[in-house]
Amino acid sequence: MTRYTIAIIVGSLREASFNRKVARSLCAIEKDRLDCSIIEIGDLPLYNQDYDGTPQEPASYARFREAVAAVDGILFVSPEYNRGMPGVLKNAIDVGSRPYGSSVWNQKPAAIVTASPGAIGGFGSNHQIRQSCVFLNMPVMPHPEAYLGHVNDDSFGDDGLVKDGPLKDILTGLANAFADWVHLIHEARGLIAAK
Ligand SMILES: Cc1cc2nc3c(=O)[nH]c(=O)nc-3n(C[C@H](O)[C@H](O)[C@H](O)COP(=O)(O)O)c2cc1C
Repeated sequence: MTRYTIAIIVGSLREASFNRKVARSLCAIEKDRLDCSIIEIGDLPLYNQDYDGTPQEPASYARFREAVAAVDGILFVSPEYNRGMPGVLKNAIDVGSRPYGSSVWNQKPAAIVTASPGAIGGFGSNHQIRQSCVFLNMPVMPHPEAYLGHVNDDSFGDDGLVKDGPLKDILTGLANAFADWVHLIHEARGLIAAK
């Protein structure tokens, strides 16, 4: 069984972020098939195209791009801010997409999970992220969709992982489907390359 490396990008910088706990829970559920690590995005200065290929380019850009380029797949786990994706996440996506022609997102299989204490589960954010992924030529897992509503402090145990119950059942299905999706994309690519 192949174990794939996965970069998790969390769209919240909040220390007690529910989305970060969801991300850690997904990793724990599929630890046999997915080797996950959270790639931090809070130290990325706002993207400025003038930096591209210059000595002024922030060192954290290279750190981020190299970390993303090295993995087999990407899992976005994010809140919704004002019905869209948080600016910090859009900034990270933009940083990884440039310089032009060198996007580190290209062809990486991905999945998008959004979680919120609200009822709609970050639907607006989820689809904004998906839109960017499609433009960036990332095969995004189409199903199951993951708009996790009513996620709050009660959803997690003292270890910071999701408690047993309906949310854990949903996360288990999501983690299994994402591991299958990453495997499918890599297998298909291997078949095409062998033709
Ligand atoms: C600036 C801002 C805008 C927000 N807008 C939304 C929103 O549009 N939809 C929503 O469900 N929750 C919204 N929230 C509430 C977040 O879902 C909530 O703060 C959540 O805990 C953030 O995710 P985190 O726990 O991973 O940090 C907003 C919060 C902030 C700070």
